[in-house]
Amino acid sequence: PLRIAVLASGRGSNLAALIAARDAGKLPVEFVLVGSDKASAGALRLAEEAGIPTLALNPKSYPDRTAFDRELFARIAASGAELLVLAGFMRVIDGAVVAGWEGRAINIHPSLLPRYPGLHTHRRCLEAGDAEHGASVHYVTAELDGGPVVAQARIPVGANDTETSLAERLLAEEHKLLPAVVGAIASGRLRWNGEAVFDGRPVTKPLTLA
Ligand code: GAR
Repeated sequence: PLRIAVLASGRGSNLAALIAARDAGKLPVEFVLVGSDKASAGALRLAEEAGIPTLALNPKSYPDRTAFDRELFARIAASGAELLVLAGFMRVIDGAVVAGWEGRAINIHPSLLPRYPGLHTHRRCLEAGDAEHGASVHYVTAELDGGPVVAQARIPVGANDTETSLAERLLAEEHKLLPAVVGAIASGRLRWNGEAVFDGRPVTKPLTLA
């Protein structure tokens, strides 16, 4: 199984989807660490219940962002993780620190990147009057939400949609998308070779995996 570490700041429903897929025998991964910048994160409770080692680091205990990120990533490396999955990790990561994980870290983001990097994606989608919304999984680079997108899931936006309804419908898609991408990496179909490669071909437009 592929050894994965997961970082999450909140509720952890995407982590739960990964654990459920593993438990169902559909995802050949071993969870070696779940880490968070918030000791109260639901994701940490889920991990404890699943018997996964956890790590909570408080950013306020470090002199600056770089010091925090260095410690966090040293602990991830020490876990033996082969892949790092950011599943609702709400911090910007130091570019130099993340560079050491090029091609070995992915992030799920609730928008059709390159539209709406950053926060409040559902609101921004509604305000723009978009007919479609979605979620993206991308390889992590120094640029916030800016690395190469490998897969997306889409939902239509209805006239009665609100931020809450969009977030809820999209989350259901995220719960299929993220395990699908991790599964593609675990099976070797999706690889990093200086660029994302799927079934031997460079990924030139986002895949639909779920
Ligand atoms: C998810 O919607 C994820 O896409 C988003 O946070 C939520 C976490 O939910 N991530 C970001 O906004 C990253 N910038 P969860 O804790 O229930 O998985």
